[in-house]
Amino acid sequence: MTKVLMVCLGNICRSPLAEGILQSKINTDTIFVDSAGTAAYHVGNLPDERSIAVAQKYGIDITNQRARKFTSKDFDEFDFIYAMDESNYQNIVSLARNSEDEKKVHLILNESQPNQNLSVPDPYYGGKDGFENVYQMLDEACTVIASKL
Ligand code: 4NP
Repeated sequence: MTKVLMVCLGNICRSPLAEGILQSKINTDTIFVDSAGTAAYHVGNLPDERSIAVAQKYGIDITNQRARKFTSKDFDEFDFIYAMDESNYQNIVSLARNSEDEKKVHLILNESQPNQNLSVPDPYYGGKDGFENVYQMLDEACTVIASKL
């Protein structure tokens, strides 16, 4: 079983979308996809209603998800850890215990736009358009990830 973890700050906007989108593109019998946040603000909460809505628009149900915090144990569990932005990337890497852990961490947009180190913008304080934009960026990146898995 290959295991993929999507990570953002709150685990309510971007990484739940990334989890749902990647799950829709792969065989869930052989690949496990989960998500987590580097902050604990929203632990136990449903995804943001704007993420739920944009996922629903494209036929993806993410209402089974509940926010949780990333921990260093996730390095033992997961093969690929995708950070949504540079700040999450740094936070995750700061918890790495060795170079093996560190090698598992990638910026998700480097899959669709290699070597550019671009970030998925945090849509939390913006409007609905921000969530559509995030959805499209993640859809593109997850298509590449799914093709490689
Ligand atoms: P996410 O978005 O990291 O994509 O889940 C955010 C959610 C909540 C907050 C910030 C970003 N917050 O500050 O509560």
